[in-house]
Amino acid sequence: MLFARAGGLTAWRLLLSLLHFAAWEAGSGQLHYSVPEEAKHGTFVGRIAQDLGLELAELVPRLFRVASKERGDLLEVNLQNGILFVNSRVDREELCGRSAECSIHLEVIVDRPLQIFHVEVKVEDINDNPPVFRGRQQRIFIPENRQLGSRFPIEGAVDADTGANALLIYNLSPNDYFSLDVQASDELSKSLSLELKKSLDREATPELHLLLTATDGGKPELEDTVQLMILVLDVNDNAPVFAQALYRVHLLETVANGTLVTTLNASDADKGVNGEIVFSFGNDGSPNIKEKFKIDSSSGEIRLIDNLDYEEAKSYEIQIKAVDKGSPPMSSHCKVLVKVLDVNDNTPEVVITSRSLPIREDAPFSTIIALIAVSDRDSGVNGEVTCSLTPHVPFKLVSTFKNYYSLVLDSALDRESASDYEVVVTARDGGSPSLWTTATVSVEVADVNDNAPVFAQAEYTVFVKENNPLLVLTLLLYTALRCSAAPTESACGPGKPTLVCSSAVGSWSCSQQRGQRLCSGEGPPKTDLMAFSPGLCPSLSTSERNEYTEANSNLSANMCLELN
Ligand SMILES: *[C@@H]1O[C@H](CO)[C@@H](O)[C@H](O)[C@H]1NC(C)=O
Ligand SMILES: *[C@@H]1O[C@H](CO)[C@@H](O)[C@H](O)[C@H]1NC(C)=O
Ligand SMILES: *[C@@H]1O[C@H](CO)[C@@H](O)[C@H](O)[C@H]1NC(C)=O
Repeated sequence: MLFARAGGLTAWRLLLSLLHFAAWEAGSGQLHYSVPEEAKHGTFVGRIAQDLGLELAELVPRLFRVASKERGDLLEVNLQNGILFVNSRVDREELCGRSAECSIHLEVIVDRPLQIFHVEVKVEDINDNPPVFRGRQQRIFIPENRQLGSRFPIEGAVDADTGANALLIYNLSPNDYFSLDVQASDELSKSLSLELKKSLDREATPELHLLLTATDGGKPELEDTVQLMILVLDVNDNAPVFAQALYRVHLLETVANGTLVTTLNASDADKGVNGEIVFSFGNDGSPNIKEKFKIDSSSGEIRLIDNLDYEEAKSYEIQIKAVDKGSPPMSSHCKVLVKVLDVNDNTPEVVITSRSLPIREDAPFSTIIALIAVSDRDSGVNGEVTCSLTPHVPFKLVSTFKNYYSLVLDSALDRESASDYEVVVTARDGGSPSLWTTATVSVEVADVNDNAPVFAQAEYTVFVKENNPLLVLTLLLYTALRCSAAPTESACGPGKPTLVCSSAVGSWSCSQQRGQRLCSGEGPPKTDLMAFSPGLCPSLSTSERNEYTEANSNLSANMCLELN
């Protein structure tokens, strides 16, 4: 702590100087001491009187005194023993600031004879100042997509000491992401930066807290620590992610318009607009999606905007796109499969495809009367149709093929006891509750000449065309003709009966188109029917026929009869 340097002096003085750790500087007559700063009052600095070659006894008589350009009270000399000591605390930084050299210049004066000595007391730095960071925390903002090797400047610490006491060594707390880079422009001036060693990911590590320690080179060393708070800034590097890649929804075909189909759930790990998701329908998938469904672009709700019909479409495949609002945006897809469930909403249909009516009363069993086709637009049991007939009819249904039936004769007919039947066919589906429909087949029984004639009528109406001179007709009607089947050509000649009248005994028919003919059912005319129209039958003109038709079209009689 205390030393003196020798100049070119005599040997004994050199020896003395070495012993006393003091020395005269060559030529300048200057004495050098050193004292550590912050030394306590009374700290020994040097035997100034002896080093200057003065006797202790002459100090007082020669008015030994010390003057200083700096504060004079820092050092003082004990006139009894000639020792220079610390009088009041010396703060190097206060005295000299940060300059590397710091000393106190003393002028020692004695009289008789007047002598002036120059004494330099070097104030030695002690490590009395720790390194100091400005603030307890430094915030560093780094976008997450920065390249490896990127550098981010940070502030170092300052140390008010000098030399080794101010020589700072920095240390960064262990971490995966950053290393400390120290660029030294000179021993005491360093630029610090963090160098990126591992890619940042805000979604994984939004913040990093590191500790930076600065340690000086004093003994003992002093240190300071600052917290480096690294805030990772978001970059749109995450696409939206759907909670499910596929959403399956089952909807009854009868659900109301507006029904919620499903709510999509997607998340985006990015922050702010980078993580805001917009939902929309993709362009692939089933056609007409936009006419059946709508999607809420922000909530992801999908709703029906139409009615469903299983018979129209059994399922829908909806492609969904989620796009974030980042720039550039990132997107992802998912799919919604809507399965439409059948409901028994369709009534069976019955179609009578052909019929051979009327049926002869002597028709054999199993004669086919009508073909019946049933159908139901529903599927599964809802579309399974069973057919039934009104009970107690002489017919039955025979299934010919799935959903095709024949209505066939099942027991003997007798026109005289039942001349027609209203056969009700009921088609019922297997839904629950089941739906059903009916169709009616009117079965007319055609007469066969299996009964003796009976008188049925005693009133006759005779039409006579008076202005036709040719025409003298007498009709004697002994009996009535029951027409129970369509007359055929063989029975009645050309033409068909077009007028049917009913009487108490049954249906009657007669020809308006051919004069002098009375028609009966199939087979030869009844022998008990007599009509007279001598020689005129084949030659009636068209106009004449029409006239007759008009005249006879409004028969008031209970039976049909035509006379020319
Ligand atoms: C969406 O999914 C996330 C997880 O992916 C879950 O925590 C959240 O509850 C879901 N929200 C809804 C409405 O289903
Ligand atoms: C279903 O509802 C929407 C409004 O929510 C309406 O525009 C549409 O016409 C409705 N469709 C049917 C078939 O009722
Ligand atoms: C036809 O008969 C109806 C009554 O059945 C009668 O009112 C009408 O006048 C008649 N027409 C002719 C042309 O005789």
